[in-house]
Amino acid sequence: MKPIEQNGLTRRIREDADAVEAALAGRWLADAGTHAPLLGEAMRWAVLGGGKRVRAFLCLEIARVLSPGTDATDYACALELLHASSLVHDDMPEMDNDEIRRGKPSCHKQFGPAIALMAGDALIALAFRAAASDEENAAAAVSVLSEAGGWQGIASGQTLDLLSEGRRISLDELKTLQRLKTGRLIAAAAELGALAARASAETARDFAAYAEAIGLAFQVTDDLLDAGETGSDRARDLATFLSFMTPDEARAYASELTEKGKDAIRKYPGTEILLSFADRLLVRTC
Ligand code: IPE
Ligand code: IPE
Ligand code: MG
Ligand code: MG
Repeated sequence: MKPIEQNGLTRRIREDADAVEAALAGRWLADAGTHAPLLGEAMRWAVLGGGKRVRAFLCLEIARVLSPGTDATDYACALELLHASSLVHDDMPEMDNDEIRRGKPSCHKQFGPAIALMAGDALIALAFRAAASDEENAAAAVSVLSEAGGWQGIASGQTLDLLSEGRRISLDELKTLQRLKTGRLIAAAAELGALAARASAETARDFAAYAEAIGLAFQVTDDLLDAGETGSDRARDLATFLSFMTPDEARAYASELTEKGKDAIRKYPGTEILLSFADRLLVRTC
């Protein structure tokens, strides 16, 4: 990759993250404390001022590639709201019991578990409101988000993750768990981008295949990054890709998945940024 492309990609990611941050803060979270100020504060704490906005970027860029000029900001916000809700709940003592999220105290450390639980709930509800912003596609968008966040996605993935603690699971079981826990929402980012662009079902499937493959690679990379730390996954003896492969094998596997993902969209014009983005995720350091 040439440096100039890297810079272009970095700028695009930053601009999108800034636009999504502004929409989240202004359009979606500004009134959240109207009835219970502490709830609004906890929601803003969980969503704003951090996060790589990977899901938002995928959604916005895929929408632009498939139909130049499309603004999928509301869908990008819906994805980030649902993602943030899952992180609030994931960090709670009953789940991973993590005290730090995005470099600051996790929501329950800052506001207490009861408020964090409510903030997570309210973020889920708000995510669906954001997904329904475009009336013409509201039912389809809400379905996509529901299937990513509910029993077809995150909720089952997280349940299997918790149940895997201290148990030996197979590599296939781990892949299924990770696809549900993380992959479905990343694939949903692609599907919502395609929906915003009014793309065909076949096109949406290709971009979802791209996102799903880089989503699994994302998780493999996450395990590689976590391996250097004494994070909760290790403390709790959770299965990771490094339970099945050496770090070098894991890096090769992540590269292979990334190439497979890129192959799914190569035939479409204007995908250079998405192809570079897939490579960028492989070498991320946080
Ligand atoms: C963290 O996701 C949880 C996983 C699914 C591995 P991200 O790494 O996308 O978290 P943020 O949004 O950038 O904080
Ligand atoms: C969090 O997964 C993923 C979801 C909340 C769906 P992890 O527990 O593996 O990620 P981190 O390490 O807390 O970010
Ligand atoms: Mg977890
Ligand atoms: Mg966790």
